Amino acid sequence: MTVMDAIAVQAGFDAWCRDELARVERALAEWIAADAPAGLGDPMRYAVLDGGKRLRPLLVLAAAQSAGEPSAPSREASLRAGCAVELIHAYSLVHDDMPCMDNDVLRRGKPTVHVQFGEARALLAGDALQALAFELLTPEHLQIPDALQARLCRQLALAAGYNGMAGGQAIDLASVGKQLTQAQLQQMHRLKTGALLQASVEMGAACAGIHGAAFDALRRYGASLGLAFQVIDDVLDVVADSATLGKTAGKDAASDKPTYVSLMGLDAARAYANELLAEAQAALAESGLPSVQHLSALADMVVRRSH
Ligand code: IPE
Ligand code: IPE
Ligand code: MG
Ligand code: MG
Ligand code: MG
Repeated sequence: MTVMDAIAVQAGFDAWCRDELARVERALAEWIAADAPAGLGDPMRYAVLDGGKRLRPLLVLAAAQSAGEPSAPSREASLRAGCAVELIHAYSLVHDDMPCMDNDVLRRGKPTVHVQFGEARALLAGDALQALAFELLTPEHLQIPDALQARLCRQLALAAGYNGMAGGQAIDLASVGKQLTQAQLQQMHRLKTGALLQASVEMGAACAGIHGAAFDALRRYGASLGLAFQVIDDVLDVVADSATLGKTAGKDAASDKPTYVSLMGLDAARAYANELLAEAQAALAESGLPSVQHLSALADMVVRRSH
């Protein structure tokens, strides 16, 4: 690729992100009700709107478009799937920040939900966001086939639950002050963070009806990208500042959490993330799908990001 080609590809990706992010923000703002009882809509909206990179929705949409231009029902399903994953992610952050877990006061550049609204309302906002995610996946009176709705629910439930995000968070809490082997740390990271990212890719693929070897290749892409994401999260916790991150830097070492940086050091952790990036890109190439350029750019973004 020439430099001019590379600039054109980057410009195309930037324009795609801008359009899709606008669609996601509009949908989230519409679907998270402000009129919940006793003001519960306030912490729900605070937790989700006005912040976040929206990586998971972008992965869903890019995967759903990787086989070519999606049909109208597939477009609707993938927008709902992207927002559903983002709601599960936002709920996981609300609970992750609570005093009983990481005890953080800053998230997405704002006071955390429990600081702003109190612990009980933060807990309930998280619960309600989780349920709303599944409500979004099962709309009435729309053209999304029942079988696809059920499949999306199953994919998200598996990634969010005991053998996914929640299970990984349990390992994280049980690992404070311990030295894990690389295999144990990998398992923790794959579950607490990788599972939802991999599910984002798989849900997008399901919306597009991708199956067989192409689906398996996207799954491998998602697994490598998901692990790389948390390796870089560990790196950024050490090298970035709180203003850039929008969350308190240096928390992992202060809380004695095992991370890729504590296990192998900064340079080796970065090198490992680059290896995972190469694996993700190789899987994309093997997928044989015609339009993987946005998935490819998103993988680069995950490893090269500064926040
Ligand atoms: C942070 O995720 C929490 C982890 C899973 C490591 P993101 O870095 O995607 O957070 P937002 O959504 O952009 O705030
Ligand atoms: C959180 O991991 C993963 C979740 C499931 C929320 P971290 O605890 O490392 O996330 P940050 O650094 O607080 O965003
Ligand atoms: Mg945590
Ligand atoms: Mg945390
Ligand atoms: Mg972290």
